This record gives sequence, C-alpha cells and structure tokens, in this order.
Amino acid sequence: MPNDPSDQRPPGTRPEADSRDRPRPGGRADPGDDLVSCRGLTKEYRTAAGTVRALKLVDADFRAGQLTVVVGPSGAGKSSLLRILACVDRPTAGLVRIAGLEVSRLGARDRRRVRREMVGYVFQQPSDNLLPYLTAAGHLDLSARLRGRDAPGAAERLLDVFGLAHRASFMPAQLSGGEQQRLAFAAAVIGSPALVVADEPTAELDHHAGESLLQAIGDLRAEGTSFMVSSHDQAVVRVADRVLQLHDGAVVKEVA
Ligand SMILES: Nc1ncnc2c1ncn2[C@@H]1O[C@H](COP(=O)(O)OP(=O)(O)OP(=O)(O)O)[C@@H](O)[C@H]1O
Ligand SMILES: [Mg+2]
Repeated sequence: MPNDPSDQRPPGTRPEADSRDRPRPGGRADPGDDLVSCRGLTKEYRTAAGTVRALKLVDADFRAGQLTVVVGPSGAGKSSLLRILACVDRPTAGLVRIAGLEVSRLGARDRRRVRREMVGYVFQQPSDNLLPYLTAAGHLDLSARLRGRDAPGAAERLLDVFGLAHRASFMPAQLSGGEQQRLAFAAAVIGSPALVVADEPTAELDHHAGESLLQAIGDLRAEGTSFMVSSHDQAVVRVADRVLQLHDGAVVKEVA
C-alpha cells in the first residue's frame, strides 16, 4: 500500500538480491510448516540522542495458517518486529525468511514486490494505511489489482463483512477512525495474501466491530492465510494459536 519511505532506492543502483532468489508463487506454505523464520533479529534506530535497540537477537518461527499475536508493553518492539516481518523495514542484523526466501537480504524494490504478492500490512495508525484521494471501494480495488487477484465481487463482499457497504464512495477523511481501521484491514486481506501482518488492528474498534474482524481472521485462516497481529486486546489474544511476548526488544515468553 502507500507511503513506504523504505521503497526509495537511489537511481542506477542495483537491487541487493539476486533476481533468481524468488518466492514460491503466492508464497503459500503447507499448514503447520514454518512460513516465516527470524534468527538473531536486531533492529537499531539511530537518533540525535543516540542509538535505540528496539529488537535484540529475536528468534521466532511463524507457522502457516496460524494466528500469532505479539504482545508486550508499549515500546517493547512489537511494531518494529511487524514492520520487518511485513517487509516494510529491514533489520539492522539477523535473518528473516518468508516461504523460503531470505527477505532480509532484499533491496527496497524486491521487498516491495514480495509485499505486493504475498503480504497484506496494516500500520498501527489507521490513517497511514489510506490514500486521501481514493474512496473506500477504490482502496480495495487498488489492493486487489496490485496483488494480481482481481476477483469479481470481492470488494463488495469485504465492504459488507466490515460494515462499510454504506461508505463505499467515502474518502478516508470522511470515515471515522474505526471505519478507517476496518477499511485498512479489508485492503490487507483482499485477494487472500499468504501473510497478513496487522499492528493493533482492533485498537479503534468497538466490541461488535472487533468480533467481526476476529470472525474474518478465522474464516481466512481456514483458507490458509497466516496472520501476525500485535495487540493489547484480550479478545484477540484469546483466539490466538500462538502468543509471542516481547519485553524490551526480546522474546520473553512463547505460548502455543
Ligand atoms: N523511527 C524510530 N526512531 C527511533 N526510535 C524508534 C523508532 N521507532 C521506534 N523506536 C523506538 O523503538 C522502541 C520500540 O518501538 P516500537 O514502536 O516497536 O514499540 P511497540 O511495542 O510497538 O510500542 P506500542 O505498544 O506503543 O505501539 C521504542 O523505544 C521506540 O521509542
Ligand atoms: Mg506499536
């Protein structure tokens, strides 16, 4: 989707990975197989005040067809981890493999291709997911086309599932925070990508809308889509296949 600053590559430079290093078509893995593996994942941010170590040698595996929920206090590194898993950002060190492809080696252009084909991503801030000049229906059409899965009727169905049918022609600025969040989630799941990564997708939702979103996750999981979601919401944690608990950039607990 839009506004990804990591997509910038200086003109004339080559992508860092070999073009033969392609993901399997659609990136699907068999249910129960590891879809995503991280080893020694480290993320550092350099700031004027010094270096922040947001992730410290994280090892984790995420299985196909599962919902993994990442929990932890504010600042624990949840968004930093999800941005890397979604190929929006690169680790400072360590390895990330998605469907057998070492994405941590890829340059911005190849990462963008992997994202388009295999990953639906929802930023933590609802408005970061949306383009101000596209209607709700336009967002779903664009996402489906970018993913190469332009299924007839899919956009209408998802607008209906997420209670947005009456907002199909609305621009993002005309939508509430919760409506923006549901639209962003619908855009992430349209076309059933192999992997959906969503950063606190129920933060703006009321109980009913949150339940609809969990129901949609359940349905899509049954079709083989894998979800990695960060959340402070116990309703999300309750339906997780696995819970990964982060604290101060490290995995402190894993519950299957
Ligand atoms: N772009 C950045 N530049 C500098 N530091 C950053 C940046 N992004 C995140 N951090 C720092 O990295 C640490 C982890 O941040 P992150 O956003 O991953 O946490 P989080 O677990 O998602 O928190 P929250 O629950 O509040 O969303 C924090 O200490 C944060 O201040
Ligand atoms: Mg966060």
